[in-house]
Amino acid sequence: MSAAASTPEDRAVSPERTAADGEESRDGAVRPLSLAAFVGQGAVKENLGIFVAAARQRGEAMDHTLFYGPPGLGKTTLAQIVSRELGVGFRATSGPVIAKAGDLAALLTNLQPRDVLFIDEIHRLSPAVEEILYPAMEDFQLDLIIGEGPAARSVRIDLPPFTLVGATTRAGLITTPLRERFGIPLHMNFYTEDELTHIVSRAAGILGMVLTEDGAREIARRSRGTPRVANRLLRRVRDFAAVDGVAEVDADAADKALLRLDVDARGLDAMDRRYMRCIATNYGGGPVGAETLAAALGNERDVLEEVVEPFLIQQGLVQRTPRGRMLTPPGWRYIDLEPPAAVTAQLDMLAKAGALDDGSNEARDDGTDNGGAA
Ligand SMILES: Nc1ncnc2c1ncn2[C@@H]1O[C@H](COP(=O)(O)OP(=O)(O)O)[C@@H](O)[C@H]1O
Ligand SMILES: [Mg+2]
Repeated sequence: MSAAASTPEDRAVSPERTAADGEESRDGAVRPLSLAAFVGQGAVKENLGIFVAAARQRGEAMDHTLFYGPPGLGKTTLAQIVSRELGVGFRATSGPVIAKAGDLAALLTNLQPRDVLFIDEIHRLSPAVEEILYPAMEDFQLDLIIGEGPAARSVRIDLPPFTLVGATTRAGLITTPLRERFGIPLHMNFYTEDELTHIVSRAAGILGMVLTEDGAREIARRSRGTPRVANRLLRRVRDFAAVDGVAEVDADAADKALLRLDVDARGLDAMDRRYMRCIATNYGGGPVGAETLAAALGNERDVLEEVVEPFLIQQGLVQRTPRGRMLTPPGWRYIDLEPPAAVTAQLDMLAKAGALDDGSNEARDDGTDNGGAA
């Protein structure tokens, strides 16, 4: 296998933005700009369309909206689309960037009426900042403490009505009071092969690349249900085609390029296989806790949970259990091993006891797993 894809950062199939995506800033080109141009996420799109239209009709700020879902599915894109369709301004920041209450206050007081404030990774806001956010979201008011010690006094500032759009990859890590202040919770799912084929074909057209329908489908099939991955693989395939002097990219040319990138027929790479082999050979198939597994693999737990596991779980290769991750029988076979009878028996038992989740449990915790508004 190639040396590529050994760390999360340089994986061709990483759903997260990577350094190699410097070009993603040029991505303005392929990023859809309207709900109509946004492919997939049918229920989310339909709901947003209605809420945007209603807010416009009333001339009010749209209700606060929270996008849940794995990286690369279009949360940031949709947030931008919402502000465009509302015809209002767009300000973006992210949870870890807002260090102090004052940082958030500065952002909020600079908003124009009905603007969209987008907070990415909103589960990473500090508790002190979150406190400030509650009255801001609920009553468009800011309660600030000015000064220190005996001279400290609290002031109340009225804010323009605004729409907070939050995005999180970790539904389970959002605090209940914060979650409850979002009127529109929307859950994003992995894309289907057809949807990704559409996305890839469209992006190829924008990039001026000649790609057959089969070629687009081949890339789509190996993109882990994730548009960001699809766009990245498309660009890499385009690079190989350019260097090899291939004018028209078909399934065969795409396949060859993707194999050189170490992306297998199902979109898995060396990192995925290492993860599955580790569970199989070091831990007898599991269950093994995320922390232990992360240490054994030399990765951060967050990276495993946000970037590696969601797709493997969605594909039924790995199963989350109350006591940790387990490799499923298809997972064992994927790395060319036979599942031990004990593993199969244990999984059957857990399934009968209803102790298995389908990978969306984090999102289901909060009862918003239906892709619609509550
Ligand atoms: N439905 C879609 N159709 C076309 N391209 C999409 C779609 N969703 C996402 N993308 C593309 O995928 C990439 C990642 O989208 P982004 O909104 O940044 O994801 P997230 O914020 O969920 O991580 C962007 O380059 C975007 O253009
Ligand atoms: Mg984003």
